Amino acid sequence: MRIARIPATEPMHEKDAVDLSLINNLIEKFKGKKGNMIPLLQGAQSIYGYIPEAVFEKISVKTGLSLSDMYGVATFYAQFRLKPVGKYIIKVCHGTACHVQHANKISEALMESLKIADGETTEDRLFTLESVACLGCCSLAPVMMVENNTYGKLTGAEAVRIIKEIRIRELSKK
Ligand code: FES
Repeated sequence: MRIARIPATEPMHEKDAVDLSLINNLIEKFKGKKGNMIPLLQGAQSIYGYIPEAVFEKISVKTGLSLSDMYGVATFYAQFRLKPVGKYIIKVCHGTACHVQHANKISEALMESLKIADGETTEDRLFTLESVACLGCCSLAPVMMVENNTYGKLTGAEAVRIIKEIRIRELSKK
């Protein structure tokens, strides 16, 4: 599933930044339907890239789903994000094949270069770093994925170089 991301330039005050009308159709589609909570949360996340607080509130008001139930589900399942993500999500595979090929060195190099921890987003909202399970191309281990591009047989230095190139490309667009 492709995630729609909010632009890196939007303000951090999420309640002000979120256009709540974007979920009107989603709410109409699932309102009153049995088992609608997960599809609503998934739909909201695919629109905003994460589930903003104001979106939880709107869904609750419009559908009658309880806020605490929704937060309970959203915090239980790893697929849901409660914080904004960067324009680029860097997925570093930590599946078994990549793990034995020193995937941790890639994550460490990226954390140091980007100055963020695993799961965090850079201040400029360009990158989010994530450790993930097998990406399905173990013969290329260790593997990293950025957008739809897969990079295999990586070293930490190469991973950092790839990310720097993306940043340079983004800066040149400004
Ligand atoms: S374990 Fe990394 S791609 Fe399979």
